[in-house]
Amino acid sequence: MARRLTENEIEIASRSILEGSLVAIPTETVYGLAGNALDPLAVAKIFAAKERPSFDPLIVHVSSQVRSVDDLAAAGILDTDKISVAVKNVSNQLIKKFWPGPLTIILPKGPLIPDIVTSGLSQVGVRMPAHPVAQALLKKCHVPLAAPSANRFGRISPTTPAHVEDELGDKIPFILDGGACEIGVESTVVTISENQTQESETTSPIIWLIRPGKITSEELQSAVSCRVEFARSEHEKASPGMLLSHYAPHKTMISLKQLTTQTEVLRKPNGTLNTVALLVVSGNGQKEIDILKNLGIRVIEMVTLSDTSNETEAAKNLFASMRRLDQTDADFIITTETPNCSGLWLAIHDRLKRACTSSVR
Ligand code: TXA
Ligand code: MG
Repeated sequence: MARRLTENEIEIASRSILEGSLVAIPTETVYGLAGNALDPLAVAKIFAAKERPSFDPLIVHVSSQVRSVDDLAAAGILDTDKISVAVKNVSNQLIKKFWPGPLTIILPKGPLIPDIVTSGLSQVGVRMPAHPVAQALLKKCHVPLAAPSANRFGRISPTTPAHVEDELGDKIPFILDGGACEIGVESTVVTISENQTQESETTSPIIWLIRPGKITSEELQSAVSCRVEFARSEHEKASPGMLLSHYAPHKTMISLKQLTTQTEVLRKPNGTLNTVALLVVSGNGQKEIDILKNLGIRVIEMVTLSDTSNETEAAKNLFASMRRLDQTDADFIITTETPNCSGLWLAIHDRLKRACTSSVR
């Protein structure tokens, strides 16, 4: 069992990090499994504990003393020789507006970041977490922290210390307790490319949104002068983790929409129907219960992410609710859809879609 540390025991967490050991840390999005990003052996322990494939790169978390791309380059985290003036300006606009906060920016890596952190890629994802306990640890240990979400590979991200214990309790020495995570879904991830315009010699960067999160494309767009686009498959290929299965409960999870056309999925070999646990994304679930009743399907447990269709509340409850339903006696989990794909609903839609895809085994 991992030992829980309170925020008064940051010193123990810091010592553990500097000795090359791992600590699960709270962030405003989800809990992370942190190790010294400058120490390849510590980073190797992160991949081992999570059973994460070595080709899926880690995000580097930095202290809020950082103000700009130049500060990150001075710390050996980024390489400004490989960053154009235009990309640097856009990056600094993002840093100024959204850090500390749930935004990861992928930029050319500096000499102090070991290749194992980026899975051999030439770029590194950097984020400045807003959680005060994560910041206190970063300030105490004076090294950047490599930290993926603190779950076993492919599973549901943890949003409380108890979730981390369930996932990795037997593999790590410490969990730094910062309470339940405020946001509940992982950071927005962006990469920035140069866009050579045909008419002129000048270039104007484009921000590509690789993973939707709390910070929406509309918010990004309002903070910068360049274009913001949703990532295309070539960017997802450059971010190998995005192609992998994710957020999978142990039980098979199916969307209600998919189920209504394929009820047979739920039929047992003896002809009877399996039982289900229902994840109601927005509203009180009455309509969905009626649909399932008409199909002859028995709902033995139900959770609602937000009765009032509030996206912030739904995001905060998402992963804990998936875990809860995974622990019921139901044979399958059925999820409803998000009411739309704007704002934070897009991130919720993305996680649910991946959970459904990965759990169909
Ligand atoms: O909110 C978060 O981002 C949380 C907390 C702990 O900070 N972290 C997190 O890490 O979600 P992780 O490893 O579970 O997801 C990071 C994603 C992966 O899909 C990875 O492929 C992508 O970001 N990524 C990281 N570094 C990258 C790089 N250098 N190039 C392309 N994609 C990268
Ligand atoms: Mg993850």
